[in-house]
Amino acid sequence: MDTNIKKECFLWGVATSAFQLEGSPYADWASWDSILDLKPEVTNHFQLYKEDLNLLKELGVNSYRFSLEWSRIQPKQNYWDEKALDHYQEIIDILLANSIEPMVTIHHFTHPLWFIKKYPWHKDTSIDKFVEYTEKLTSKVRGIKYWITFNEPYVLILGGYLEGCMPPAIKDLSLALKALKNILISHAKAYDIIHSKVPNAMVSVAHNMAALAPWKQWNPFDRLLAKIAKYFYNHSLLDAFLTGKLTVKIPFKKAQEIEVPIKDKIDFFGVNYYTRIHIRFNPFRKLGVELRHRDIDGHGLTDMGWEIHPQGLERVIRYASKLKKPLIITENGIATHDNQKKIKFMKHHIDVLERCIKKGYDVRGYFYWSLIDNYEWLQGLDARFGLYRVDFDTLKRKPTSAASYYSYIIKSRNFQLKKN
Ligand code: BGC
Repeated sequence: MDTNIKKECFLWGVATSAFQLEGSPYADWASWDSILDLKPEVTNHFQLYKEDLNLLKELGVNSYRFSLEWSRIQPKQNYWDEKALDHYQEIIDILLANSIEPMVTIHHFTHPLWFIKKYPWHKDTSIDKFVEYTEKLTSKVRGIKYWITFNEPYVLILGGYLEGCMPPAIKDLSLALKALKNILISHAKAYDIIHSKVPNAMVSVAHNMAALAPWKQWNPFDRLLAKIAKYFYNHSLLDAFLTGKLTVKIPFKKAQEIEVPIKDKIDFFGVNYYTRIHIRFNPFRKLGVELRHRDIDGHGLTDMGWEIHPQGLERVIRYASKLKKPLIITENGIATHDNQKKIKFMKHHIDVLERCIKKGYDVRGYFYWSLIDNYEWLQGLDARFGLYRVDFDTLKRKPTSAASYYSYIIKSRNFQLKKN
């Protein structure tokens, strides 16, 4: 396909996900969400996509990360909705025509209802279903170089298989590990399929990474748990991409080693970074672990209670750099009604990023989460991540001062790509 995107440059973008902007009547989260009485459809991006894509031009970003909603594309097991595919292709075409590099997420937390009922991730049959979906996508969708197979597989597993706060809402450690293994096998297969169809493709997952620290430095239990959590949450996936083995150390249990065929199956690595989490030993909690946020450095907490900790971005970049692959910050953002706080958050994180690039870390892009206010999984509509404020009654999008600030950053910071 002939596109206007010519040269490789630092990717300045924003990130979104389909379900959070448009909902879907066929997704597992649709019924989940009615339990919570919160409606992602209210943003109505499915109808207003052209207006929203115009906002990207207004911002001046050169890339846009978004997801394709599997449940719209395959609402029934044996039925592909070609119109839904055409809809997403139109979005891609508009982006390319405006010199905006599309980055597509294949799986961003939601599933078709039929999939999660009959083929949840802990069943091996899930792999074939994901493979069929990826084959369909790659044979139909044109013009995509950057692919994210799975957004935050660990969050999906923790939420869906340990906490039980996300579909399929199972609380079982061994099924959780089985599901994680199947997701990673699916990634490996999707990686090969994408490369067989798109020769210059750049494929990754988007891994949620966090700065993790003990609640009390002097407490050996807090320290031990923080070490185990840090390894599992941040490093075990990196090591699995390096070795093909996933080592799982569970507090007070024997470590397990799981073979996963993902060695070297990434072309870049997507890092989603938001916060620091403190870890405390609490014998009354599951696995003895309690997670807390506290405002230690005075940067404050977000509306969701997360600690703002820009320095942690450098830490996770350092961890991820052991892969020796280009890194892209595929998500970083703040939920707040206070636009000055949003600007400071952005400035401080991008300052850290700049320092990392100057130190020689190979970071090739930054995607702010998110373009417009949208549905936040467990919080609903009040978590305001958007650069554009959405009035949920009139559906009007209004730029916040953070949007102008981001445009200014994009124009003024000239990040050079590391040459190999
Ligand atoms: C997810 C997004 C979510 C954001 C803020 C990320 O972990 O990928 O879907 O909205 O965090 O919670």
